Amino acid sequence: MMQTFKIFRYNPDEDKNPYYKTYQVDVQEGMTVLDVLNEIKWKLDGSLTFRRSCRHGICGSCAMTINGLNRLACETQVKALGGGTVEVEPLRHYPVIKDLAVDMEDFYKKYEAVKPYFIAGTSPTDKERYQSIEDRKKIDGSYECILCGACTSSCPSYWANPNFLGPAALLAAYRFVFDSRDEGMGERLPILNSRHGLWRCHTIFNCTICPKSLNPTWAIGELKKKVISEKY
Ligand code: SF4
Ligand code: FES
Repeated sequence: MMQTFKIFRYNPDEDKNPYYKTYQVDVQEGMTVLDVLNEIKWKLDGSLTFRRSCRHGICGSCAMTINGLNRLACETQVKALGGGTVEVEPLRHYPVIKDLAVDMEDFYKKYEAVKPYFIAGTSPTDKERYQSIEDRKKIDGSYECILCGACTSSCPSYWANPNFLGPAALLAAYRFVFDSRDEGMGERLPILNSRHGLWRCHTIFNCTICPKSLNPTWAIGELKKKVISEKY
């Protein structure tokens, strides 16, 4: 069935302003929005720019705004969008590099700022650092993050204050603060408790748009409790 796709286009080197371009694509059963973008790029308009890699919801690179919601193009079935014109735009509140590709540099700087790696204060023994099943469960819902940026892009606190660490970075902090094997809490909590840290989250829940069904708002709440209950 032929369907219309209205795609955001902008090449800062050539265009004075962004604009939308429409394409007619023959959508077959089972096609995702990423399949449609590939179809456009390969057969209709090679100048269209977007990011993708895994095609399986793992790499996070195809996050974009589809019919107004942040989603992964490779996981979004066209049929599930309910028919009519499909509007595809870049993730909001990141600078556009070209068309649907945005600049994630600031996003990764925030991620780096929370020290997203194990910090060991003690030397390892001759064994691995074991963890109980209960302790392991505490990090469920955080390590699955694929760093697609959809949550931070949808966060009104981040729109208002670009210095705010944002939901993805704070979820990464949760992943290590609540891991029983990590010993870096004393380094991390002051960062989270800083001027542009977790108190800038006003529990708006927009970040629960997460395509992996994670809940950064909940994790930030747990970090807030940790900060006020721990001495560091
Ligand atoms: S928490 Fe979800 S929306 Fe945010 S970066 Fe990770 S996978 Fe993407
Ligand atoms: S292409 Fe990797 S998440 Fe979509």
